Amino acid sequence: MATALCPGSFDPVTLGHVDIIERSARHFNEVIVAVIRNPQKTQSLFSLEERQQLLKEALAHLDNVRIEFFKGLLVEFAKEHGAESIIKGLRAVSDFDYELQMAQMNQRLSGIDTFFLSTSPQHSFLSSSLVKEVARFGGDVSGMVPPHVNQRLVEMFRKET
Ligand code: PNS
Repeated sequence: MATALCPGSFDPVTLGHVDIIERSARHFNEVIVAVIRNPQKTQSLFSLEERQQLLKEALAHLDNVRIEFFKGLLVEFAKEHGAESIIKGLRAVSDFDYELQMAQMNQRLSGIDTFFLSTSPQHSFLSSSLVKEVARFGGDVSGMVPPHVNQRLVEMFRKET
């Protein structure tokens, strides 16, 4: 299969993301990690450049993966880059409703299909938001994010306190 997108905010990248991207890279010739410029959910903790740098280090071992930024509609970005598929990780049933709705909307807008990968069980509770919350209050997230991301989180929240 040709090119697929793995989109997200990646604020910051977790081991759950790395797992989904690694597995996607086995099935597609090329995977573009599409980092949204302005996540709507919350104000981002890491700048765009920092999110990119953290991703770069986390994915350096994957030859067929590259990182790009996008703003606006994901399907427009997909068309511009010749990507025919979008990949999403599903952690639990609670992810499904919204992800299905987005997949159907994206299909309707562009004909681009979304493929769902089940998150590996050891990562099924992980999210960037929870990782940030735990790290902010001094909790240990070292088994949940790549080592360099853990280091950055520790530095960042040490400064805050
Ligand atoms: O990591 P996140 O924050 O869950 O990622 C969400 C993301 C970026 C994949 C989603 O918000 C998105 O695709 N945004 C782009 C805008 C868009 O295309 N909206 C229509 C979706 S049907």
